[in-house]
Amino acid sequence: MIAVRDIAYVRIQVEDLDAQEMFLQDFGLRPHARTATSLQMAAYNGGYPAYIAQQGSKKALGVGFQVGSFEELQLIAARFNSEVRGNAELGAGWIVTLHDPDGLQVDLLYGGDVVAPESVRPALLINNAEQRRRLGTTNRMQIQPSRVMRLGHVVLKTVNFQAMFNFYQHTLGFRVSDSYFAESRENTVATFMHCGLGAEFTDHHTVALINMGAQEPAFDHCAFEVLDWDDLACGSQFLTQQQYQHSWGIGRHVQGSQVFDYWLDPAGNKIEHWTDGDLVNDASPVTHEPLSLDGLAQWAPPLSPEFLA
Ligand SMILES: [Fe+2]
Repeated sequence: MIAVRDIAYVRIQVEDLDAQEMFLQDFGLRPHARTATSLQMAAYNGGYPAYIAQQGSKKALGVGFQVGSFEELQLIAARFNSEVRGNAELGAGWIVTLHDPDGLQVDLLYGGDVVAPESVRPALLINNAEQRRRLGTTNRMQIQPSRVMRLGHVVLKTVNFQAMFNFYQHTLGFRVSDSYFAESRENTVATFMHCGLGAEFTDHHTVALINMGAQEPAFDHCAFEVLDWDDLACGSQFLTQQQYQHSWGIGRHVQGSQVFDYWLDPAGNKIEHWTDGDLVNDASPVTHEPLSLDGLAQWAPPLSPEFLA
């Protein structure tokens, strides 16, 4: 078995690439590559393009994941009677393309992390009541697009939940961090999964699977880590000024603990800024709790009705 090391990109199809590119820039991503029918946007950390869009009717197309070695690509290719190819799309590195049980394209990537990082301001030094670390200096922020440092996770509305769970666990090496159930403990409705890297700490969830009767595979949302708390808040105010449609936030989640802020892109897709998430490893405790609306956030404004649509 292989173990995915991190998520690389989401792949999505939208009608209006121009509107999508403008929104994603205002959301805090950088343009990387563009044709008449495709768009690649990058995060400030560089690496892989974090967001790939192609022109067409709105739908989720797939996800790219980074693996740790060329040998892992060879292993997975052999298991699926597939092949390791040079990555023509990115112009570098190697790729194995699979499809998960819901039919989403899963690109497994090694090398080809072609995007150079771009520097940003240092994360803010915050004084609190117990620790005074910022002495004799000021904190001054600008209202501007957030600095999206990296793609953090994708949440999939599954059609075949059990098959998807088995695939992400047994084929890609993900491990359960926490899950929610409804009515009975056997009826799992959401599972948060981290990269199975043993003792190495990693994001609380890189993939989450929702089991609520989706008729077709879809992203519930994709989520991008921003520089820090103030970067998230200033980016939120900037998006408000640009009159984009806010979804929910600012708040702090329970599972994963992230400070979050959700927006809708021009196609109506939910997309998240977050900062200060939990890091877990394979020894971290796993919970299985009843789902409740109150359980989605420790503090936040009231949940907007479309958030769970
Ligand atoms: Fe999220």
